Amino acid sequence: MPKAAAPRVILGIGGGIAAYKSAELARLLVQQGYEVQPVMTRAATEFLTPLTLSSLTHKRVITSLFAPAGQPEATLASAIEHIGVALENDLLLVAPATADLLAQFAQGLAGDFLTTMHLAFPGPVLLAPAMNTNMWNHPATQANVALLRARGYHFVGPAAGELACGMEGPGRLAEPAAIAAAASALLDKKHDLAGETILLTAGPTQEPIDPVRVITNRSSGKMGYALAQRAQARGARVILVSGPVALSPPANVELLRVETAAQMYDAVMSRLAEVSVFIGVAAVADYRPARPAAEKLKKSVSALAIELEPTTDILAAVGRDKGHRLVVGFAAETGNLLGEAERKREAKNCDLVVANLVGAPGAGFEGDENEVVLIRRGQQPEPVARAAKTVIADRILDAVADLRARQA
Ligand SMILES: Cc1cc2nc3c(=O)[nH]c(=O)nc-3n(C[C@H](O)[C@H](O)[C@H](O)COP(=O)(O)O)c2cc1C
Repeated sequence: MPKAAAPRVILGIGGGIAAYKSAELARLLVQQGYEVQPVMTRAATEFLTPLTLSSLTHKRVITSLFAPAGQPEATLASAIEHIGVALENDLLLVAPATADLLAQFAQGLAGDFLTTMHLAFPGPVLLAPAMNTNMWNHPATQANVALLRARGYHFVGPAAGELACGMEGPGRLAEPAAIAAAASALLDKKHDLAGETILLTAGPTQEPIDPVRVITNRSSGKMGYALAQRAQARGARVILVSGPVALSPPANVELLRVETAAQMYDAVMSRLAEVSVFIGVAAVADYRPARPAAEKLKKSVSALAIELEPTTDILAAVGRDKGHRLVVGFAAETGNLLGEAERKREAKNCDLVVANLVGAPGAGFEGDENEVVLIRRGQQPEPVARAAKTVIADRILDAVADLRARQA
């Protein structure tokens, strides 16, 4: 059953014959205690009246991106409603998801309220397709579904059976109860980290050589930011200690910006007492210039040697002072991945090491995708196939939630 603060669901409705079943779905979701915001495409309003849905959900049904000129809604607030709706809700559920909507989502088109808001929506998306069997089997539709699945979208159905057009085969909208159950599973999972305070480090560090030059590395911060965003969405209080990155901070996350490994160490240690889970994703410099120059170094010498000294190992320090805390480290390796990761897990007293092969094209530091292996004490290594970093983040957090449940 949903918790006291009701999770919020956007119910997107496409222009398919099964749109009438979304009224029953809306009723079930409301009955289960969820707040439901209906959004209908123009085609959907040909099949079902907004009045039906507003009566069932007690919400104004959104049917258009633009308020008619001269109407009181044509204000700044309504002008950015698609962003507000995207950020205020926990799940985007689309039922029926027509062939056209699947194509628009896959291509990132933004021609109406639902598709525009979809692009701004940071959380999980659940799609319940419904269409004629030939439309579903068409290679274009199948390619769109494969692309969306690879991006981490969730699907429920379609079921096989007799369709409104008289054909038999896959294409029927899943039963409203099955769709509501799939939505519940995503929403309830979403809160499995409630009560946890998770401190994450992310990004690279920059170690000054002189006032204008630094030693740094290729970490983009994307994996750490994806973890922070997903941990927050799953109910955790999140403190993100971030090195310099070109990313927008995730909403509702406390962001502490640092530059050097020493500043990152201080920031982590100053907050550790509040923390139940530490996840060290940052690529912290192992060495820093021993004596950074006070003035900009001149190009006058033919060769320049910079003496480096080790930085303090943040993960090892957190592991030493572990207490009841769960400690998660990342091991970015270019070879002997499992051996190095297990050695690091043991040496740094980590409960979980996320081993990350860097150097593969498109994955690792700078890409939007990743491919990792989860290493836990006394368990077989668990490979997580290549996927978007937000999807990988959820798999890592599944392991965190599982380890925390075992600790309890
Ligand atoms: C009577 C009728 C039933 C339709 N049923 C479906 C359907 O079940 N699934 C689908 O993908 N398209 C169906 N269509 C086609 C869509 O309505 C059409 O592709 C529309 O552009 C989809 O708009 P949307 O992007 O707002 O969903 C149907 C069209 C008609 C006229």
